[in-house]
Amino acid sequence: MTDPVALHYEERGSGLPVVLLHGYPLDHTLWRAQMAALGDAYRVIAPDLRGHGASPAPEGEYRMDLLAADVAALLDRLGVERAVWVGHSMGGYVALAALRTMPERVAGLVLCASHPFADPPDKAASRRASAAQALREGTAPLVSGMLPLLFRPGTNLETISAHLIRSMMLRTPPQGVAGVLSGMAARPDAVDALRPLDPPKAILAGRDDQIVRLADLQALVAELPHVALHVIDGAGHLPMIEQPEATTAALRAFLAAL
Ligand code: MLT
Repeated sequence: MTDPVALHYEERGSGLPVVLLHGYPLDHTLWRAQMAALGDAYRVIAPDLRGHGASPAPEGEYRMDLLAADVAALLDRLGVERAVWVGHSMGGYVALAALRTMPERVAGLVLCASHPFADPPDKAASRRASAAQALREGTAPLVSGMLPLLFRPGTNLETISAHLIRSMMLRTPPQGVAGVLSGMAARPDAVDALRPLDPPKAILAGRDDQIVRLADLQALVAELPHVALHVIDGAGHLPMIEQPEATTAALRAFLAAL
């Protein structure tokens, strides 16, 4: 595996370390409201994953294990052995990679608008095609197709929040986009990583998520009842932006029970 890169990050507060991982193709500022709120009682660490925000974006495929190793290297730098890993969407795939490859570093896991399933072959193929497109044409064509899917149906995309998300996505360099798209296409199914009772695990789902279907998560937790499913009303794929207080409250309840 390639060497970890030094991630850009922001940190707030002290106490139990909580790592907030953003999804694709976003950056750590996605979690600004939760950082500010949870920083009163926890040591909140929010990195930009490789290829995103102000972190390095080397060429090549970014496997989820590699992104998790980058985060672990950041935690080493900060003197943190174990943390609660909270991952939004692709950030959830990274948290699951940490749970698979270094479970001793995971004190708790929250998947936010995320899931443990591998890509079906057609999805993996379309990601690889999009990775090639990003390298050829840049990030913008992918952003315009994805933006409406991030918010719940019917959302006005001319609001400040939607503009902030659009600009965040447009700042992601093409090699970062291509790196994670091919890495996500290669990720394994991680359902087995959720089977042990420890560490505690939860899923936060936007009721109207157009990317991660609530019905799939409900079927998953029916099979794995120790994984708590918390549904956030009035949210799509971005509960931390669409319903910041409800998202913070759900995270706080999970953390308080650890
Ligand atoms: C994300 O928000 O990180 C992506 O939608 C994840 C994915 O494409 O599977």
